Amino acid sequence: MKYDELIQLISSRHSCRNYLEKDIPDELIEKCLEASRLAPSACNKQPWRFIVVKDAELRGSICREGILPGLPMPWLKKVPVIIAICAKTEFITHKLAKFISKVDYSPIDIGIAGEHFVLAAESLGLGSCWIGWFKAKAIKRILNIPRNIKVVSLLSLGYPTNKNTGKKEKLMLSDIYSKNRW
Ligand SMILES: Cc1cc2nc3c(=O)[nH]c(=O)nc-3n(C[C@H](O)[C@H](O)[C@H](O)COP(=O)(O)O)c2cc1C
Repeated sequence: MKYDELIQLISSRHSCRNYLEKDIPDELIEKCLEASRLAPSACNKQPWRFIVVKDAELRGSICREGILPGLPMPWLKKVPVIIAICAKTEFITHKLAKFISKVDYSPIDIGIAGEHFVLAAESLGLGSCWIGWFKAKAIKRILNIPRNIKVVSLLSLGYPTNKNTGKKEKLMLSDIYSKNRW
């Protein structure tokens, strides 16, 4: 893939909050997961674990009990798939780094793997939205997630309708970088 195609894919992605109530074949979801599987991670620990939630009752419980108040997400009820992106937390490398260098590897690892997923989804005609406004404790209970696993984010996934709002404004290049020094 050349740069033009890559930047086209990246710029066509936007947070999708309007979905068709249509199932997604497992093979497509596995293609997205394959993109995540290949992501880089600190010390190659690959701490990501994904839970693909298709079950309607579980999705209902997530919508009713797993979302924090104050940022209503009624559209989530129509999403055919919710993904819980989780992190294994027991790596000594990650604990040491956080302590010594103050760099928290885990959210970086998970963010990269998650965005690989999102871009692969976009390339397959699927819409997605990161969801960080959730109750981690409730999600762990609903999905039987063990204590040593952290839920880092949720992702919605589905076929977009044509009712999605346009692109969000982004900062200009000159706003986000400087040369040599801050
Ligand atoms: C870590 C993270 C958490 C987010 N949490 C939510 C959320 O809880 N609910 C929501 O509707 N959108 C959420 N978003 C989507 C952002 O609002 C969205 O990415 C941002 O407004 C930029 O729009 P774009 O994705 O269309 O470029 C989240 C995005 C990220 C990266």
